[in-house]
Amino acid sequence: MNDPGLPGPGDDLAVRAASAVRAETDLVPRVGVVLGSGLGPALGEALEETAAYPFTNLPGFPPSGVPGHAGKLVLGHLAGVPVAAFFGRVHFYEGHGMDVPALLPRLAKELGADTMVLTAAVGGLLPGEPAGTVVILRDHINMMGTAPLRGWRYPDGMPTFISAAEVYDEALRELAFERAQSLGIPSSIGVYAAMSGPAYETPTEVRVLQATGATVVGMSMVPEALPATALQMRVLGICSLTNAFGEHVEHEEVVRVSNETAVAVGRLLLDLLPRM
Ligand code: HPA
Repeated sequence: MNDPGLPGPGDDLAVRAASAVRAETDLVPRVGVVLGSGLGPALGEALEETAAYPFTNLPGFPPSGVPGHAGKLVLGHLAGVPVAAFFGRVHFYEGHGMDVPALLPRLAKELGADTMVLTAAVGGLLPGEPAGTVVILRDHINMMGTAPLRGWRYPDGMPTFISAAEVYDEALRELAFERAQSLGIPSSIGVYAAMSGPAYETPTEVRVLQATGATVVGMSMVPEALPATALQMRVLGICSLTNAFGEHVEHEEVVRVSNETAVAVGRLLLDLLPRM
């Protein structure tokens, strides 16, 4: 079969954002890392920064409007590995179309990365799985009501009928789980239900999500993971379980637990990156 080339939503924003980055540095990242709610501090000190870009300086990126999400891209080294680290993400629930969160993997790919590590806070759907657990993703179910690749086409005009049979790379997932276990980090392998938010789920929605086989629920991940897959990148999803099944959820509590779990996620990332 002929290589159809890489698909996209038909704009040149990733190319333009990449030239804004290239005006400051020629560092080629191997891995794009997205740091979710409260996870910024997980990398803070360990990241050797070469250049930093507020999202507002990158074409197509809106300012991040959520407390706990700084909204900047840093190019640098993490545990010796060249990375493009996104501090804060762009959420569908902020009112953007799916094309905006897709810019993160598109830009990382344009800069040379072949892997995306996506971190996010999640709520638990498994009775008994405690807050603080690090959940490595095996799969997801998209309940956001729209599809991240809607409107994407290959250069020849063909829509992106990609296989989603293995969005989350099996070898990366096994490695991440094995490393988390050997570092003594409470962890599990799970399935992510993506909701559009920003409301947390009703009790009935929680029961529906449990019935789908999902083990955790969140409001991000999928709008980045599917585009990354379409761009032929390996994807690793690492989630901090901030509220256990059956607990009352408050956003402030989500950010607080996420900040605590960030220490473990940071240790895991530093251990993992040179092995990926
Ligand atoms: N639901 C959706 N998103 C979340 C949750 C939750 O319970 N916790 C953290 N992010």
